[in-house]
Amino acid sequence: MTRRFKSIVILTGAGISAESGLGTFRDKDGLWTKYDLNEVATPEGFARNPELVHDFYNARRRNLVEASCNAAHVALAELEQKFDGDVLLVTQNVDDLHERAGSARLMHMHGELLKIRCEACGSVLAWREDLDLATTCPACAITGRLRPHVVWFGEMPLYMEAIYDALALCDLFVSIGTSGQVYPAAGFVADVRRRGLAHTVELNLDPSDGFSLFAEKIYGPATQVVPTFVERLLSV
Ligand code: APR
Repeated sequence: MTRRFKSIVILTGAGISAESGLGTFRDKDGLWTKYDLNEVATPEGFARNPELVHDFYNARRRNLVEASCNAAHVALAELEQKFDGDVLLVTQNVDDLHERAGSARLMHMHGELLKIRCEACGSVLAWREDLDLATTCPACAITGRLRPHVVWFGEMPLYMEAIYDALALCDLFVSIGTSGQVYPAAGFVADVRRRGLAHTVELNLDPSDGFSLFAEKIYGPATQVVPTFVERLLSV
C-alpha cells in the first residue's frame, strides 16, 4: 500500500485489548462463554438482578484498573500524533487503554467502564471503585439509581451521527480486533464500501465475519500487526 491517505477511521474491538489481559467476548473462554449476556448486558437483566450486573462490572472494572495498554494501543496513539491528516478512533471497547496510550480523537460507541450514570439525575461521572445498590449519587445524593455507563444490547450506541459523518468522508477504514458480529459497528465496512472511494483493511487474529468485505486483510496478534501497519502508514 503506497497510497497517501488524508482521513482515516479506525474501529477497534476487544481483540486489541486481549494481549493486555482483558477478556474478549466470543473467543474460546471469552466473557460470553462464562456469562449469559442477557443477564449482565441488557436493561432487562439489570432490572431483574441488579446485584449480578454490578458484580459483573465490578470484576471487569477491578481487572481493568490492574491492566496496562499494549503496543497496539501505543501504535494507534502514535499514528494520531504523527499522521499528516485526520485520524478518528472509534472503539467498541469500554476500557480506557486507548486513552492511557495517548489517543485523544476517540469515541467509545459502547460507553466506558470507568464511568457511571445516575438514572435519577442523568449525571455521567468518572468512577473507578465498586458500584452497588447502596451507592449514593455524588451529584444528586439519591441512592440505588446508579448503573455502569455502558451501552447494553438493545440500547442505542453513542456518537453514531458523528461516526457516520466520519465514515462518509474517510479514504481509509481500518478494523482491528473485532469479530464483526455486533451491529452497527459490524456494518461500518459495508457503509464505507458503498461509497467506493476508501481503502478498507482488517487487522485481526483470524478472519472476522465480515472479512470478505475488506480489500486488505492482515492477520496476527494486534501487538505485532498493528505497529507494523502504523509504520507503513507513516512512511508513505
Ligand atoms: N490480536 C488481534 N485480534 C485478536 C486477538 C489478538 N491478540 N485476540 C482475539 N482477537 C480477535 C478475535 O479473533 C475476534 O475476532 O478479536 C475479536 C474479538 O471478537 P469479540 O470477542 O466478538 O469482541 P468484539 O468484536 O469487540 O465484540 C463487539 O460485542 O458483546 C459486545 O459490546 C460488546 O463491544 C462488544 C461487541
